[in-house]
Amino acid sequence: MKLSASCLFGVESLTADELRYMGCSDVKIETGRVLFEGGAEEIAKTNIRLRTAERVQILAGEFPARSFDELFEGVKALSWEEFIQKDSAFPVKGHCLDSALMSVPDCQRIIKKAMATKLASVYSLQRLPETGSELQIRFTINKNIAAIYIDTSGAALHKRGYRPASAAAPLRETLAAAMVKISRYKGREVFCDPFCGSGTIAIEAALAAKNRAPGISRRFAAQDWGIISASVWDKAREEARASEYSGNYEIFGSDIDSACVAAAGENASRAGVSDTIRFFAADALSLKLPGESGILMLNPPYGERLLTAQEADKLIKGMGNAWRGLTSWKKYILSSSLDFERSFGMKAQKRRKLYNGMIQCQLYMYY
Ligand SMILES: C[S@@+](CC[C@H](N)C(=O)[O-])C[C@H]1O[C@@H](n2cnc3c(N)ncnc32)[C@H](O)[C@@H]1O
Repeated sequence: MKLSASCLFGVESLTADELRYMGCSDVKIETGRVLFEGGAEEIAKTNIRLRTAERVQILAGEFPARSFDELFEGVKALSWEEFIQKDSAFPVKGHCLDSALMSVPDCQRIIKKAMATKLASVYSLQRLPETGSELQIRFTINKNIAAIYIDTSGAALHKRGYRPASAAAPLRETLAAAMVKISRYKGREVFCDPFCGSGTIAIEAALAAKNRAPGISRRFAAQDWGIISASVWDKAREEARASEYSGNYEIFGSDIDSACVAAAGENASRAGVSDTIRFFAADALSLKLPGESGILMLNPPYGERLLTAQEADKLIKGMGNAWRGLTSWKKYILSSSLDFERSFGMKAQKRRKLYNGMIQCQLYMYY
């Protein structure tokens, strides 16, 4: 099967590295998704193990669709009976961009009708009952090319299950995991997030250090289809568990707000890494760092959701002043401020464009 790991813009190469490391073949990077080949085993292991991807989907088909007729015929031509049983439910959702077909409800209706026509004919049924397990169909029509997917993940993969207790502006788990990957942190150095909020960055660092699969404890939509046997999922989980490391890690998270510190601790417990991280309350500007050297990784308040732009800028200036002498600490700072380097008072050695939801940010890297 052709599979697709969708991901945030800017992290595609990291998702591709993860897939190659897992032994997936024909890995191909595109904007916002990475394509690869695989079967049931790959669906199970990539859902369980991928840190930076949002979903794993079966790419059912991809074809030009400039008209409803083209869309209908393209969808009808696909071998839906390979995945969709007589009684399966198959809701459809998606989006359109820069295309002749821009009405999402109309496209939804056409895709549903084409699938129903094909399946009714294959199963010799007048009406499909749709009373069985659900397969979510997703589509994109981008520049007149329709891509039709079957979602194997269900809830998006950033929903690891450890963060119901959330601070005001949490970072998406997959983005935090991407930042940790960019830093090449492997559990050997001291790691500290002095603006930890709900603890996402520190928790993702701990999961990476322990090589714990982020989806080890959650369910995925494809588990309910009855097509992939339970033993495939069990085996993928066993293999993931067997490749976990144990060790002594020095991971710290601190925040000025003690309610955030408490929430971060609860989240770390749910993630099973509370023995690995120490959270405490502190003002980042006067914080005594927990070591001589290591990695500082953070996303300070942006001046959109938590502070005014002026307050956020003042905080960045304060960080620059407080941390100027910390040359033995590598710093990875995610910020949406266009003036970050000027306010911080130091030019980054490297930058990388990343998206925190819809907010365009840069990861400023200081070695
Ligand atoms: C954008 S949030 C960080 C979100 C976090 N990465 C997460 O995933 O939940 C910024 C955090 O910085 C904290 N903060 C603001 N000023 C601070 C300061 N001077 N020292 C330490 N923390 C501060 C806020 O309480 C907030 O939790």
